[in-house]
Amino acid sequence: MIRKVQIGLLGLGTVGTGVVKALRENSGHILSQLGVSIEINKILVKDVEKERRVEVEALQLITDGSLIVDDPEIDIVVEVMGGIVPAYTLVKKALESGKHVVTANKELLAKRGQELLQLATDRHVHLLYEASVGGGIPVIRTLQAYLSANRVSSLRGILNGTCNYILTQMAEQGSSFVSALAQAQAAGFAEADPTNDVEGLDASYKLMILASMAFPVTSGELQVQRQGITEINEVDMTVAKKMDGVIKLVAEASYDGESVTLSVGPQMIPNSDPLARIRDEFNAVLIQADVVGDLLLVGKGAGERPTASAVIEDMMAILQSDNPRFRKPIDPWTPNDSTQQGESSRSWSYLRIKRDKLQEESLLEAVTSKFSSHGADERLPLMLHANHHASDDILMLVPVSSTLLSDWLKEKNARDWLVLPFKGELSYEKGKVVTHFSEAIS
Ligand SMILES: NC(=O)c1ccc[n+]([C@@H]2O[C@H](COP(=O)([O-])OP(=O)(O)OC[C@H]3O[C@@H](n4cnc5c(N)ncnc54)[C@H](OP(=O)(O)O)[C@@H]3O)[C@@H](O)[C@H]2O)c1
Repeated sequence: MIRKVQIGLLGLGTVGTGVVKALRENSGHILSQLGVSIEINKILVKDVEKERRVEVEALQLITDGSLIVDDPEIDIVVEVMGGIVPAYTLVKKALESGKHVVTANKELLAKRGQELLQLATDRHVHLLYEASVGGGIPVIRTLQAYLSANRVSSLRGILNGTCNYILTQMAEQGSSFVSALAQAQAAGFAEADPTNDVEGLDASYKLMILASMAFPVTSGELQVQRQGITEINEVDMTVAKKMDGVIKLVAEASYDGESVTLSVGPQMIPNSDPLARIRDEFNAVLIQADVVGDLLLVGKGAGERPTASAVIEDMMAILQSDNPRFRKPIDPWTPNDSTQQGESSRSWSYLRIKRDKLQEESLLEAVTSKFSSHGADERLPLMLHANHHASDDILMLVPVSSTLLSDWLKEKNARDWLVLPFKGELSYEKGKVVTHFSEAIS
C-alpha cells in the first residue's frame, strides 16, 4: 500500500513555488524511490488573492498558520516564509506538536537555531535546514554526515550570490556598485531592498550556521566581524586587477581549539585563490579538515530550483530514516600545529582614503611610520596609483592586518577610508617588495 505523507507549506514565494513545482514534476520518482506519496495539505500565504506562478486551485491557501501547525493530519511542516515573526512561533509550535520541520530560513537558524534544535531533539523529530546555506549546495549534510570523523579547522566561502554577482559585474564589466546592483535586481538576483545582502548580514547568518555545525559552539554564542560591499568602487577594482586579483565578499570561520573567529567582508584575493574563480551568482565553501584536507563545494546559492532541491532532499531524508541523524555530537578537541590560526605576521591590507579627508598629510606619514616593520623582515607601506581617476584617493598596501589598521584609523578619527584584507602575491627582492602593480613604489 502506498504511504501518504501530508505536508504543510508556510510560504509560496520563490522557494515555496519551486517546492510545489518540483514535488509535482518528480512525484513518480519520489514514489518509486520511497514508496511514499507526498501531498501538500495547506499553504500559508499573506495574500490569498495574489496571482501565483504555480497552479494552486486544488490546494488550500490560508492566512492562519495555526491551521497548519495544529493540524494532526500534517506530518512535515516546510517553512519557506522567511524572517523571525511569525516563522519562529510557527516552527516552535510545529515541533512541539511532534511534526518534523524543514526550513530554508537562515536568519531563524542563526538567531534561534540552538533553542529550536534542542526542542526537536527533545521531541524526537527532525529540524533540517540544508537550504538555509548555499541554496542547492549540500554543505550542511557534508559537514553533518560526511565529515564526522574529521576535525574541521576552517571554513572559507562565498555565501552571498547577490554580492558575488555585483562584484563580478564590477570586475568584468567595469560597472559601478550602483549600476551593478541595478543589474542584479533586474536579473532577479537582488531584492528591492538589498540591505541584508550588500551589508553582509545574509552571509553572516549563513556563516554562523556553518560554524555551529563545524565547531563545538552554538550559533547563539557567535559574533561576526562584518563589513559590506557598498564602499567598493571602480578604483579598488582596478587595483585588484593590476595586482592579479579580484575583490570578493569572503566569509571566514576558524577554530584554534579554544575560540572561534568569524568574519564577513570584502577581501582582495589573488587569482590563484580557488574562491577567485567563483563568478556571478554562484556560491562556494572551502572546508579545511584534518583527514580529508581541502574540500571545495561550488554551486548555485539561491534561486527557485536549487533551493527547492535542498528543501525536498531534506524531506526525503526525513522520510528515509526512522532513526535519523541529528546534529553531529561534537567533542572538544585539540588542534595540531598545522591547524593553529592567529594573526599572521605577514598580513597586508589595502587602504583607500580620500585625499581631502586626510585632515593633514601627517596622517599619511603616521600610517607609514606606525606600520613600517623593522629588522630582517622590513616591510614598508606601499603607495599605489590605480589610474588618473584615482587622483582624489590615496591608495596603499599596508603591512598589517585589516583589523589592526581599521582600529587604528578609528582611534585617529580618520574619515572616509576603506580597508580590505589583501591576500595577493607579494615578493621581496633585496629588501623591497615587488608587486604586479606597475606603478607601485616602495
Ligand atoms: N529565494 C532564494 O533563492 C532563497 C535561497 C535560500 C534560502 N531562502 C530562504 O527561504 C525563505 C523564503 O524565501 P523566498 O525568497 O521564497 O521568500 P518570498 O519570495 O518573499 O516568499 C515568502 C512567502 O511567505 C509568505 N509570507 C511571508 N510572511 C508571511 C506572513 N507573515 N504570513 C503569511 N505568509 C507570509 C508570502 O506570502 P505572499 O506570497 O502572500 O506574499 C510568500 O508566499 C527565506 O527564509 C529565505 O532567506 C531563499
